[in-house]
Amino acid sequence: MGTGRRICVAMTGSSGAIYGLRLVDELRRQGAVVELVVSEPARRVLHYEEGFEFPEGELRVQDLFADPKGIVLHDPKAVEAAPSSGSAGIEAVVVCPCSMGTLGRIAHGYSIGLIERAADVALKEGRTLLLVPRETPLNLIHLENMYKVAKAGAILLPASPGFYNRPKTLQDLVDFVVGKILDRLGFDAKEFSHWETPEREAGQNGLKKDSGEEGV
Ligand SMILES: Cc1cc2nc3c(=O)[nH]c(=O)nc-3n(C[C@H](O)[C@H](O)[C@H](O)COP(=O)(O)O)c2cc1C
Repeated sequence: MGTGRRICVAMTGSSGAIYGLRLVDELRRQGAVVELVVSEPARRVLHYEEGFEFPEGELRVQDLFADPKGIVLHDPKAVEAAPSSGSAGIEAVVVCPCSMGTLGRIAHGYSIGLIERAADVALKEGRTLLLVPRETPLNLIHLENMYKVAKAGAILLPASPGFYNRPKTLQDLVDFVVGKILDRLGFDAKEFSHWETPEREAGQNGLKKDSGEEGV
């Protein structure tokens, strides 16, 4: 399903680095080549949220993944790198997680670095651009920027896990969102957020049993 496909994943300085890491890992597991870009602030978030300790200087794939297979890491300042070009054969760009700063720059065509440029290229070439914001609450500027990018053709896929699958672990919550992204990209997402109507068991959440409610 994913063999030979080239997907650009950009991780920015929003909370939710775990979503980006899981997405990259799964895309390359399914045979895709991931063109990965990690913004400078994303490195800080990876440190605070995931405990990564990065050596001075340029980031290496091995600093993030034990097995570098299937991942091509680009410097976020390298505007000459493949994701910058419409003819490089990259079929989709996913900004995951997407900070409000990066969203704003994409919304205004402010292609100051590789991430914004890759997003800009996806839009101009009519390719898939998926933005995964985590921010809450949202101010009017965020909402206007979301409206603007959506109008230009981007897909906004907020990191908002559902609870109808009855998640039990943090991994379940992460996989719900990553499954939505995989699905949107046409990758196999069966193991991620597949919905099957469960047998309804009342009383699990402390609410009154036999309330007579139907559905979810
Ligand atoms: C631990 C941590 C969590 C953050 N979470 C968010 C967030 O959820 N959303 C956001 O827009 N910015 C968040 N920020 C702030 C961004 O990192 C900051 O605005 C940065 O300039 C974004 O840069 P970038 O878009 O180039 O990656 C966070 C910063 C840190 C250190």
